[in-house]
Amino acid sequence: MSTTTHPQWTTRFAFILAAAGSAVGLGNIWKFPYITGEYGGGAFVLVYLACIALIGVPVMMAEILLGRQGRQSPIHTMRNLAQAQHASSGWQIIGWMGVVAGFLILSFYSVVAGWAFAYIPEAISGNLNGLDKTTSGALFGELTGSPTTLLFWHTLFMLLTALVVSLGVQNGLERLVKILMPALVGLLILLVGYAMASGKFLQGLDYLFNVNFSAVFYTCQGASCTFTAEPLLVALGHAFFTLSLGMGAIMVYGSYMPGKAFIASSTLMVAIADTVIALLAGMAIFPLVFANDLTPGAGPGLVFVTLPIAFGSMPAGQFFGSLFFVLLLIAAWSSAISLVEPAVAWLTERWQWCRVRATLAVTGLAWILGIGSVLSFNYWSGPEYQWFGKTFFDLKDYLASNILLPLGGLLIALFTAWAAQRRFSEQGLALSRGFALWWWLIRYLAPLGIALIFLHAIGLV
Ligand code: PHE
Repeated sequence: MSTTTHPQWTTRFAFILAAAGSAVGLGNIWKFPYITGEYGGGAFVLVYLACIALIGVPVMMAEILLGRQGRQSPIHTMRNLAQAQHASSGWQIIGWMGVVAGFLILSFYSVVAGWAFAYIPEAISGNLNGLDKTTSGALFGELTGSPTTLLFWHTLFMLLTALVVSLGVQNGLERLVKILMPALVGLLILLVGYAMASGKFLQGLDYLFNVNFSAVFYTCQGASCTFTAEPLLVALGHAFFTLSLGMGAIMVYGSYMPGKAFIASSTLMVAIADTVIALLAGMAIFPLVFANDLTPGAGPGLVFVTLPIAFGSMPAGQFFGSLFFVLLLIAAWSSAISLVEPAVAWLTERWQWCRVRATLAVTGLAWILGIGSVLSFNYWSGPEYQWFGKTFFDLKDYLASNILLPLGGLLIALFTAWAAQRRFSEQGLALSRGFALWWWLIRYLAPLGIALIFLHAIGLV
């Protein structure tokens, strides 16, 4: 197998940090609470947790394994591995779909990261002080209503992303993430503490953890109720999104992994950190939703409307608020770079482009696509600019997260467990225990689960 010209993580710990940096991002703190609110709480959370444990974790192990054995960009990794395993070169599609998904995600991710960016000066200057439900909503509305402001922050975030990717990932990032993660967890715990004092903590917990399947999976008109599979698909899609799976980000990070690192335990650590951070965010946000009479299903603005109310009224809120948005920005940053990396790695291998040129091309294209996300909140927010009831922003998210990522995951599972030989995984994972369980999950449960949820969602089963 050809060796890579790409760098390697210095240690196994560096890989874990980078993968956790990729996984922990806006998905945990912005998206998880808001989709949980839209899809009705506990039952959705339970399905999401099941998807992480039964599908996400085994697929993540497979994706890292493919990357580490292929040691190139996902497109070339898949081509080489397919060749080595005497399988069709069509498996390269995994890499291609990942590149497309990366563009789609980055083009809305950067706009949301721009919101976090925009809230930093607001928090520092004391503009969040004393906010209530109405003024907080108005502040967010003012931001999203202004295309030029959104464009400004979107551009700045994209430049920041381009900067780190073009410099090469290790230097700044490894160090940054080491400080960021504990700080983020610390701050989230502080916010959960604040939420406990809100008087609605139990109601918030109840919303998150009280499993009521009929409320989430059945839509009723009068006495007749029909089952809807959409929350299942969204929970599955989010499991992939939050773990950065199915699009080559984790594969390309795996390709920089030192040869002897332990894939299974690294995966578990990343998945646990990611899940705990999402749940902490939910526990901080939902009590505030209820304490302030907000609606859980308020949509993408949920976090940006609730948390500023908390910062605005807590002691030293100006300081903690500023710190929180800085951390959120860094979390988004360390995820964004992994969205760019698969395409950049491919351009440098295939066309021998230098890193800077490849990075500028990829982030430039995503920036242009991102203009559509910017406009989705103002000029293009009307129904004439919606498809299937979704704005351009929502549509890109839906297509990437709920279709392309799970499909990528399905193909990764199928390749690893059906196209490649069992020995390939046995040797690569080198597990002393648990191989049979993983093999069963990746060979049967994960692909069947994903396929069933897809078929359900399009109404075939
Ligand atoms: N996992 C990141 C988050 O939760 C988003 C992401 C998705 C990053 C796919 C890379 C690949 O914010």
